[in-house]
Amino acid sequence: TDVLILNGPNLNRLGTREPHIYGSTTYAELVTLCELAAKELGLNADVRQTNAEHELLAWLHEAADNETPVVLNAAALTHTSVSVGDACAMLTAPLVEVHISNVHKREAFRHHSYVSAHADAVIVGAGVNGYRLALRHLASLGE
Ligand code: DQA
Repeated sequence: TDVLILNGPNLNRLGTREPHIYGSTTYAELVTLCELAAKELGLNADVRQTNAEHELLAWLHEAADNETPVVLNAAALTHTSVSVGDACAMLTAPLVEVHISNVHKREAFRHHSYVSAHADAVIVGAGVNGYRLALRHLASLGE
């Protein structure tokens, strides 16, 4: 795997979840989009989603151990989880933080991220295209 694409709580509900905010692309379609976008860039992406914080932590530890670049949408854990932030601090390969919606346009509790301080780049508000942009950024770092 060249890049891990990790998604946190409720993102499995994409497509039906508040489509006016997150769009109509389903999670399954997002996985396909990411896999194809990665392939076009010559990368192999492993796309995962979990609603369990401990599982997301284990995946971040795996990325730290293997020095794997990460695209992370930690969803609501972005705003609440010191442990997700701490796990991001362990990463040595590039980390790109993605949010589908523009979190800065929304409620104040979405304005702070425990991830951003550890991210090389942050992409917010570009919809699911943000994942493509994140992959392009990672690919450009490798050039
Ligand atoms: C999100 C933004 C978060 O505030 C929210 O809790 C999510 C999704 C996004 O992709 O826009 O679940 O990370």
